[in-house]
Amino acid sequence: MSEHRIELTVNGRPHSARVEARMSLGEFLREELGYTGTHLACEHGVCGACTVSVDGVAMRSCLMLAVQADGADVGTVEGLAAADGTLHPVQQALRDNFGLQCGFCTPGIAITLTTVLTDNPRASEAEMEAAMSGHVCRCTGYQGIRRAIRQLAGHGAGEAA
Ligand code: FES
Ligand code: FES
Repeated sequence: MSEHRIELTVNGRPHSARVEARMSLGEFLREELGYTGTHLACEHGVCGACTVSVDGVAMRSCLMLAVQADGADVGTVEGLAAADGTLHPVQQALRDNFGLQCGFCTPGIAITLTTVLTDNPRASEAEMEAAMSGHVCRCTGYQGIRRAIRQLAGHGAGEAA
């Protein structure tokens, strides 16, 4: 299998590595760089657990090859909170509204919501819910996630859908 040198930025930090051509970006982030907050589940592009941002766009890292991320600016869940540990508003909303149980799906959901809100800080509840259509959660029944979205859309914490 051929190997290629890639250079990319993850959460603002530059990385350079040699990677096998077949290695997925998700595998690379987890196994080569140690960003294990990116979770791999279905590895078929279905569940959304592996979602990271690539140049500001939410991408399934199980479907993207590491070599395709050469030169990219990648964001993972490890990069969301502030340096002092203050949670990103998306993380805080999920926490405030019990939008997670086991947390396996949460990094991908948090990344998708942050990309939506970075694109449009005034994104509506409907727009954020539509972005969630690519995410599967096996725990929450989705109501906590929907309440978190309502909070992010400016409807206040904990209001029932
Ligand atoms: S692990 Fe990538 S979509 Fe499920
Ligand atoms: S919180 Fe467990 S899979 Fe979503």
